[in-house]
Amino acid sequence: MESSEISRDLTTVLVTEEQIQEKLVELAARIDADYVGKDLLLVGVLKGAVMVMADLSRALTSHVSIDWMAVSSYGAGTKSSGVVQIRKDLDSDLTDRHVLIVEDIIDSGLTLSWLLENFASRGAASIEVCALLRKPEAAKVEIDCKYVGFDIPTDFVVGYGLDFNERYRNLRDVAVLAPHVYA
Ligand code: PRP
Repeated sequence: MESSEISRDLTTVLVTEEQIQEKLVELAARIDADYVGKDLLLVGVLKGAVMVMADLSRALTSHVSIDWMAVSSYGAGTKSSGVVQIRKDLDSDLTDRHVLIVEDIIDSGLTLSWLLENFASRGAASIEVCALLRKPEAAKVEIDCKYVGFDIPTDFVVGYGLDFNERYRNLRDVAVLAPHVYA
């Protein structure tokens, strides 16, 4: 889906499809160089990371394995609790693996903070994070993210995996959702 086709739902396009692809090629080159001679396991966090995983993994020139984790926040019904429930666990054993967590966005950082602690307890050789988007002003915890695509403002963004009520994930760009859609 193109931004121009749903322009009434959007305020501005923040990151275009072309900018995303260019950035992912750049990040993939860094990742290729950093993991030479190592077996890398990419772990995508469902569902938002599907697009980033598809494009980042194909931009890599090295062999990688891919696995998925599905998590959801609970407790007082808000994400801000930082308490995370595993909906789908990894198929892989992380013992001695080099793990790169692939995320669409770091917002408060609470999901990743929990995941990093959880993965560390599983005996991985190394754990790093790659996130296409990061909202620095929304951070509630500091996340050491080695590969970041774009720092963005705290606006409500959708597209390229990011949803509002499960819609807009298939938008090619990342765009700010117009307030009339969710207000
Ligand atoms: C989004 C995103 C991250 C998380 C980031 O997922 O994919 O996993 O929120 O937010 P945080 O930094 O505040 O923890 P979401 O829970 O919306 O699920 P989804 O990927 O299925 O849309």
